[in-house]
Amino acid sequence: MRKIKIFDTTLRDGEQSPGCSMNIHEKLEMARQLERLGVDVIEAGFPVASPEDFESVEKIAHEVQGCQIAGLCRAVRGDIDCAWEALKDHPNPLIHIFLATSDIHLEAKLHKTREEVLAQVKEMVAYAKSMCPNIEFSAEDASRSDRDYLVQVFDAAQQAGASVLNIPDTVGYATPAEMEELVRYVKAHLKHPDQAVLSVHCHNDLGMGVANSLAGMQGGADQIECTVNGIGERAGNAALEEIVMAIKTRADIYGCETGIDTRQIYRTSKLLSTVTGVPVPPNKAIVGANAFAHESGIHQHGVINNRLTYEIMSPESVGIYQNRMVLGKHSGRHAFEERLDQLGYRIPEQVLEQSFEKFKVLADRKKIVTDRDIEALISSNRYQIPEAYTLDSFVVNSGTVISATAVVKLVKDGEGKEHVARGEGPIDAAFKAIDRIVKQNFPLKNYSIQSVTEGEDALGEVVVKILKGDEIITGRGLSTDIIEASIKAYINAINKAIM
Ligand code: KIV
Ligand code: ZN
Repeated sequence: MRKIKIFDTTLRDGEQSPGCSMNIHEKLEMARQLERLGVDVIEAGFPVASPEDFESVEKIAHEVQGCQIAGLCRAVRGDIDCAWEALKDHPNPLIHIFLATSDIHLEAKLHKTREEVLAQVKEMVAYAKSMCPNIEFSAEDASRSDRDYLVQVFDAAQQAGASVLNIPDTVGYATPAEMEELVRYVKAHLKHPDQAVLSVHCHNDLGMGVANSLAGMQGGADQIECTVNGIGERAGNAALEEIVMAIKTRADIYGCETGIDTRQIYRTSKLLSTVTGVPVPPNKAIVGANAFAHESGIHQHGVINNRLTYEIMSPESVGIYQNRMVLGKHSGRHAFEERLDQLGYRIPEQVLEQSFEKFKVLADRKKIVTDRDIEALISSNRYQIPEAYTLDSFVVNSGTVISATAVVKLVKDGEGKEHVARGEGPIDAAFKAIDRIVKQNFPLKNYSIQSVTEGEDALGEVVVKILKGDEIITGRGLSTDIIEASIKAYINAINKAIM
C-alpha cells in the first residue's frame, strides 16, 4: 500500500492559535507522545520567534529522536541560522522554509515582484541546504497562486536542494476537487516530480481541511500536514486523528496507510487538551466524548446485536476503553503499579509514590477508579515543581441572596496563613483570598473545567492560565469537588510563577 507521511505541526501551527500556548515542559511531553503515536515529522516550533521557541525546538531535537524534527523559518538567513542552531544535534533534522507565492501576498505583504521572490527562494533554500541535509519548501497561499508561477518556484526550490515541496491552502479557501487538481497539476508539470515528496497543508476556514488534505493525497501528495484535535490559526488545521482514521477505515477507497499507532490517538488528544486547557467538543469526530456513544434505543439495540450496525470503527482502535473498571479503594500499590504499566506509563519511583497517595485519596471518594481517572491523575502530577504553597483547608459560602465569600488556608514553610475574601462567585472569592495570602496578583487569563468521566462522583479537571508579565503560566487541579480542583489549579499556577 502507498505510505503517507504524517507531518505533525501541533507544536508550531497549532500552538500559534489563541489559548493553545505551551511551555517547554508541556511541548516536550507532547513531542514524546507524538513520537509514541508514530508521526513521521514533528514540527517543533519556529525557533527565531522567541528565545522560548528556540529552547523548545533545541530540547525536543535533543530528547526526541524516533522521528524527524522540523523547525520553521522565513526565507531569510537569520531564521535559517537560528533553526539550524536548534536542530543541528538531531540525527534527522528538517529545515522548513516558507515564502508566499500568491500575487495578493506578494503585493500587499511582501512588496516584491515574482522575480524577486523566485530569486529569494533559490538563494535561501541553497543556503539552508549548505547546512542541513533535509529541506522542505512551502509556497504560502499556494492554492491562490498562479499555477505556472507556483511550479516555477517549486522547480527552483527543488533544484536548490529542497526534497519536500509543500502546497498549503493557507486561508482554507480551496475545495476538495480544486486541491486534488492542484496537486495533480504540480506533479504533472514539475521537472523532476519523482525526486520530491509533495505535501499538503490545509486550513479549516470552510470546514474542509480534512477533506482537502485527503483530496490532495488522492492527487498525489505523499505527506499530509496536520494537528492533533485540529488546533491551529483561526478555524484550525486539518485534524490528524480524522485524517489517519479516514485513511485506515476507508483503505478500500484510498489504498493508503500511515505509520500511526491509532491506539495512541485518544491519549494524545487528551494530553493536548489537558496541557492547553482547550476542551475537545463532545461531537468532535474520533476523539469527542460522544464519538462512540449510542444514545437512541434503536442504535443501542443494533450495536448490542452487532457493533457494525452503527460503528464503522471500534473505540478500542483509537485507544478508548470505555468505562473499563479498574481499581477501587481496596486495591494496593502493586495493582496500581501494574495498571500504570499496562497503560504504558514509566514513572520515577518518587512520582509513583505521590501518585499512589493521590490514588488512595481518590479511591476513598469515588466508588470506581477508571483508566481515564488514572490518566488524569498522572497528568496532573506530571510536572513536579517545588510547592511553595500547599492547600490546608477552605470554606466557601455562596448563594442567590448572599455575596460569595471564601476562607482559604495555605501552608508555607510549615506555617499556616489564612485569608477571607468576597467575590463574584465562590471561585472568584477563593482566588481573591489566595491573592491576599501570597500578596501577588497575577491576572487570570483563562479558566476551564472538564469532567474526566461521567457520573455524579466524576473527577473535575481544572486548568487555569495566569499572566506573569508576558508569560502565560498554566496550573492544573484535580478533585471530585470542583471548587477544590479550582483552588488547587490556581495554587499550582502561582507556585510555578514564583518558582
Ligand atoms: O498555513 C501555512 O501556509 C503555513 C506555512 C508556514 C506552511 O503554516
Ligand atoms: Zn498553516
